[in-house]
Amino acid sequence: MLSPDAPLLSGDALRERFLALDSFLLAQQSIWRGKPFIQQQLSWEVDYPELAGWLRGRSLAAAEACHANPYALSAPQPFTQWAQQAQHLSMLGSFPDKVLSQRPLRMQSGIAERKWQQIEAFASAVHSGADQAFAAINNWLDWCAGKGHLGCYLAWPDAHLECLEFNPELVSRGQAISQKHLAHAQHRLCDVLSAESTAPLQQAGAVIALHACGDLHTHLVRQVAVQQSAALALAPCCYNRMQSEFYQPLSTQGQASLLSLNRDDLSLPMTATVTATNRERRLRDQSMAWRLAFDILQRQLRGVDDYLPTPPLSAIWFNKPFAQWCADLAELKGLPSVPPQNWANLQARGWQRLAEVRNLELVRALFRRSLELWLVLDQALFLHEQGFRVELGEFCASELTPRNLLLLARRS
Ligand SMILES: C[S@@+](CC[C@H](N)C(=O)[O-])C[C@H]1O[C@@H](n2cnc3c(N)ncnc32)[C@H](O)[C@@H]1O
Repeated sequence: MLSPDAPLLSGDALRERFLALDSFLLAQQSIWRGKPFIQQQLSWEVDYPELAGWLRGRSLAAAEACHANPYALSAPQPFTQWAQQAQHLSMLGSFPDKVLSQRPLRMQSGIAERKWQQIEAFASAVHSGADQAFAAINNWLDWCAGKGHLGCYLAWPDAHLECLEFNPELVSRGQAISQKHLAHAQHRLCDVLSAESTAPLQQAGAVIALHACGDLHTHLVRQVAVQQSAALALAPCCYNRMQSEFYQPLSTQGQASLLSLNRDDLSLPMTATVTATNRERRLRDQSMAWRLAFDILQRQLRGVDDYLPTPPLSAIWFNKPFAQWCADLAELKGLPSVPPQNWANLQARGWQRLAEVRNLELVRALFRRSLELWLVLDQALFLHEQGFRVELGEFCASELTPRNLLLLARRS
């Protein structure tokens, strides 16, 4: 949560905040682990019937209206109490703006407006770090670089840039772009999880990673310590994209925590959808409402009152009439053939369940940022233990990207 008065986190404040978040998340885990989409009744509803009834009575539009900021919803207790605690524990300062010299206009060509703004904000934040250590860097390593737009922006006009990326097309297109703006740019085809990234990590003046997913950023954080890299600027993303079933904490405090997070838990911070288009939202809603209707149907067909996972389906599936869609999905799942139904009624029940699910999900949403901060603080604490000076804050508003946490670390 951005607050004008909240400080960046560094030094002892990293540990204090981590421990406070750890206690909060542990104490409330029966609340945020409940999954309204797959559980028809959540365990906490028995304890808080007034809150459950109030949420279940609201519309889909009402849920959507406070999706981005669930803290502001004045729902019955203990909702507002959880909201206040979660909001307080998620308060984080933003890096001050640092005006950098204007990049050539043509550097922006081919980059989506939102991405360009993220790059500008990331670069500004990196340069504003406490001791200005990043201002003097003359060789940058862009980790999981894509086309390396961020590295190109930071290395301009005459620093060295090395980009590591394992998609060959992005490597060659990135190389062509960087050559237009920089004298010293090398885009390398490289799996960053392999030993090939070792030498670049040792040689770089600073490693930058904008939205490196799951294992790609936890591996980076470990390797920055092992390879004695000089500095790191990391904005993590997609915490759930990892090989292991459970998150492996890096820091001593993280390892001592009783909080055990599986891949599914790690998807909670990614449930904020501030950047989806209206069309994407419509399609997502239809898909979810139909799946919830199918859930009612499949329980009858199987005679088992349990959720049955359904696979991802392409957009073409949703051009079918609802009845056909249900019949095809039942066949795909190997269920008995579907008897005649009141399809309009079933579909309406799916939409009704979607409204309830979305409103009940507002409870989980209160814990999104707390969980995300716990994860990034674990990585920040690890680097702190390894002798880095660390600062953690927000590099841009969440409207620009909800993945707006930035961890800056310099070897002391
Ligand atoms: C979310 S994108 C971010 C790209 C870029 N940093 C940006 O902000 O636009 C993650 C990138 O990681 C790359 N990637 C995924 N796995 C990788 C690996 N094992 N080694 C190197 N790059 C990888 C993907 O191809 C993709 O370009």
